[in-house]
Amino acid sequence: MTTPLDQLRRAGEHAEDSPTAERGLHRTTREDLVRWARAHMRDRKLVVVSNREPYTHVREGGEIRVVRNAGGLTVALDSVSQALGGVWVAHGNGNADRATVDRHGRIACPPEAPAYTLRRVWLSREDHARYYSGFSNGALWPLCHIVYVRPRFRLEEWQRYREINQRFAEAVLAEVADQPAFVFIQDYHLALAARTLKERRPDLEVALFWHIPWPNPEVFRILPWRDELLEGMLANDMIAFHIRAHALNFLDNVAAALEARVDHEQLAVHRGGSRTWVRHFPIGVNTDEIAPMAESEEARVAERAIRSHLGLEGCRVGLGVDRLDYTKGIPERLEALERFFEKYPEWIGRFCFIQIGVPSRIELKEYRDVLLRTRALAQRINQRFPRPGGPTVHLLETNLDFRDLVAYYRMADLCAVTSLHDGMNLVAKEYLAATPDLDGALVLSPFTGAARELERAWIASPYDREGMADVYHGALTEPEGSRRERMAALRETVLRHNIFDWAIEVFDTVQRLTLRTPGIDPLEAHGG
Ligand code: UDP
Ligand code: G6P
Repeated sequence: MTTPLDQLRRAGEHAEDSPTAERGLHRTTREDLVRWARAHMRDRKLVVVSNREPYTHVREGGEIRVVRNAGGLTVALDSVSQALGGVWVAHGNGNADRATVDRHGRIACPPEAPAYTLRRVWLSREDHARYYSGFSNGALWPLCHIVYVRPRFRLEEWQRYREINQRFAEAVLAEVADQPAFVFIQDYHLALAARTLKERRPDLEVALFWHIPWPNPEVFRILPWRDELLEGMLANDMIAFHIRAHALNFLDNVAAALEARVDHEQLAVHRGGSRTWVRHFPIGVNTDEIAPMAESEEARVAERAIRSHLGLEGCRVGLGVDRLDYTKGIPERLEALERFFEKYPEWIGRFCFIQIGVPSRIELKEYRDVLLRTRALAQRINQRFPRPGGPTVHLLETNLDFRDLVAYYRMADLCAVTSLHDGMNLVAKEYLAATPDLDGALVLSPFTGAARELERAWIASPYDREGMADVYHGALTEPEGSRRERMAALRETVLRHNIFDWAIEVFDTVQRLTLRTPGIDPLEAHGG
């Protein structure tokens, strides 16, 4: 069966005029997505729903500033919403968010070049504590990431989670009014939103993308409200994950918990006369935006400024870019760095490491702990391995604007992504997209979704300090020819499947699957 993507690839329409075009390689562009939407979405409105908003307004010293939020989900979906317009419903958490919206909580985004409407949902302090910090990040996040942080289950948090999911659904219903729409729900904060939507508007197309891992039934069954959560999720027409293993884990959980027919052949769940499709689509990044940014004069100037400001002249540079989250393996990465200097002392004074750590979920103790551990390790390494030009480890606790981040990617001789467990990890892909000169190395944990695609990276387990120290050394000493060849192969993987490929695949699949009617099922005959 020919998909729209195959058709685009065959036509190769944009291979030459894409700004990042490399000979013979077709790139799906933002225009391809727009064309697909014109042909297939017709009058259906796109409504993206997530907890985190793509843009937050903050008041600082009497001025209002807009911040583009870090986090794989919002960064990626922003490119899609900018291309297709529509509405994005999300929690307005900035201290100037209310001051910048109309009376319905709406504001045009991105603020500098409006392309879609952001509809903000307001939550009280207590809502936030129970629904977001409590059930979403104190229960579901550690339950789904197998890193041995014990999830906390509290009835009042679960109850509030259910209420807030309903509130998000009400905001969506207000936005769609009586129009046809495709509602694209994001992540574990909103597992139950589809239920309310379908009860009130069964004709809506509703899909949930779960951006984090999904564990096996042995792990997931400890959730006291497991059955209700799974039932709520099955109100979606489609549930999607980044990798196949997590989609299969989800099906196994449904089979273990509910009275339902789980079709492993078609990857679907049949229950009470309705059907939910389960699929996987590895997300990509906006290579059309990132590659030219990395090649720009602005990035070159920024790189020189960073080098001189941080005293990096004459040093090879390692980079880590993460929210300060215990799933990211940041202390493990630094412990391996310490071991690397012990084992390979020739690098002392010749290799520096920049860790960009975006403050995250700081109201939870585990997050404060990881921040303190990271600070202590950076300090210890700097004391043990001093350098005349400046510190060996620079810990920058900040949320950089993406444009500024690209200069760091460009500069890095090595980027370390060492998650203990991660649904995908976009930093790995962004780094490759931002290294057009192929002068770099990606050290990647096998426990990321990205590792399934980026097999030629330097795969290193964050649980193996010795192994990771050796990999740092191996990556930094690889002869230039094979280093460049490795980077070229990795980069091509990222360029071949970007955020627009992902969006077309997800949207097109939802549409094809929801068009299927029992009895007359053309796709079933072709194996779906
Ligand atoms: N990011 C950013 N500014 C920063 C650090 C990170 O904009 O200072 C972005 C980064 O570009 C990436 C996202 O945050 O798109 C992190 O996504 P990832 O999938 O790696 O991890 P997540 O935070 O979603 O778990
Ligand atoms: C991960 C989650 C997203 C979340 C992001 C940032 O990518 O999958 O749902 O938005 O982290 O976390 P935060 O709690 O700041 O929204």
